[in-house]
Amino acid sequence: MIKKSDKIFIAGHKGLIGSAILRKLNSLGFKNILKIDKKKLNLLNQKQVFTFLKKNKPKFIFLAAAKVGGIYSNNKFKADFIYENIMIQSNIIHGAFKANIKNIIFLGSSCIYPKLSKQPIKEKYLLSGQLEETNDAYAIAKIAGIKMCESYNKQYNTNYKCLMPTNTFGPNDNYHKLNSHFIPSLIRKIFDLSKKTNNNKNIKVWGDGSPKREIIYVDDIADACIHFMNKKIKSVLINIGTGKELSIKEYVKLFLKILLPNKKINIIFDTSKPNGTPRKLMDISLAKKYGWKSKTNLKDAIIKTYKDYCYLKKNNKIKS
Ligand SMILES: NC(=O)c1ccc[n+]([C@@H]2O[C@H](COP(=O)([O-])OP(=O)(O)OC[C@H]3O[C@@H](n4cnc5c(N)ncnc54)[C@H](OP(=O)(O)O)[C@@H]3O)[C@@H](O)[C@H]2O)c1
Repeated sequence: MIKKSDKIFIAGHKGLIGSAILRKLNSLGFKNILKIDKKKLNLLNQKQVFTFLKKNKPKFIFLAAAKVGGIYSNNKFKADFIYENIMIQSNIIHGAFKANIKNIIFLGSSCIYPKLSKQPIKEKYLLSGQLEETNDAYAIAKIAGIKMCESYNKQYNTNYKCLMPTNTFGPNDNYHKLNSHFIPSLIRKIFDLSKKTNNNKNIKVWGDGSPKREIIYVDDIADACIHFMNKKIKSVLINIGTGKELSIKEYVKLFLKILLPNKKINIIFDTSKPNGTPRKLMDISLAKKYGWKSKTNLKDAIIKTYKDYCYLKKNNKIKS
């Protein structure tokens, strides 16, 4: 059980999920939170990471630092994705072990399950089939991280767990034109449309709109990270989702209805771009069994995220 005075390290505290964990821990009154800028501690540097962990010795680590991106960048920069993710997670996991730090929450992702996995996806389906080719380098790196957690637990009796979030969105996301995930990219396009004064009211979406996706608000992921850090459980791998799915087309329609209710917008599907995995619905029964489920209403989450985007945009704070 984490005590309010325990030293907690959030790796990646400026990212989408890391910053949500930080907000949540702050709101719960945790006082001893360790966070460090990438300029001062590059997690790719093994020596620096080992020294940092040995010197600071946090009791708990949330490993939310990673190289993350959408289909385009995962496919285009495979070498960076496999190298950086393997380095960051290996440095932290092995560094933690060397510094006798027993508790880590590592983040995997629903997109590292096999491309044509049986649905809904159970934790045991990991490595049961071919990966999606556009992100196989990223997936292999993440799977290595999961296997590290599992192996250190078996050999050294550590308490390293891996949460597998579905597509996550919320404040502080990456809205880069080429590098972002589906939801932040949709938010950006809707904002741009809201500013258009001419009659060109089209929104262009990658693929044919048929793939089904599950999405979750980032505060729910932060909540799950803290819940599972506090739980003594046997499973290393736990799916974190809502258990609900819509097609890309349905999401676009829903977001437009909520955010631009009075505008008539045409949706154009760019079928020259890949669809990605056809369906990705998580089986969340294990998380439920351990007492966790998502709490945020989707409409509220969409509005909060859009407001955050408008604020970032107005104040020139969009990450590039
Ligand atoms: N976003 C999703 O939809 C999603 C879904 C499922 C799982 N996940 C997993 O959740 C984790 C966090 O994802 P996210 O979306 O929060 O990513 P993110 O917003 O891109 O944040 C990643 C963080 O890692 C930091 N980082 C990257 N390289 C670093 C380095 N060499 N040294 C120090 N810090 C470094 C970044 O620092 P800077 O900001 O300074 O660059 C950033 O704060 C990842 O493991 C991802 O696979 C994400």
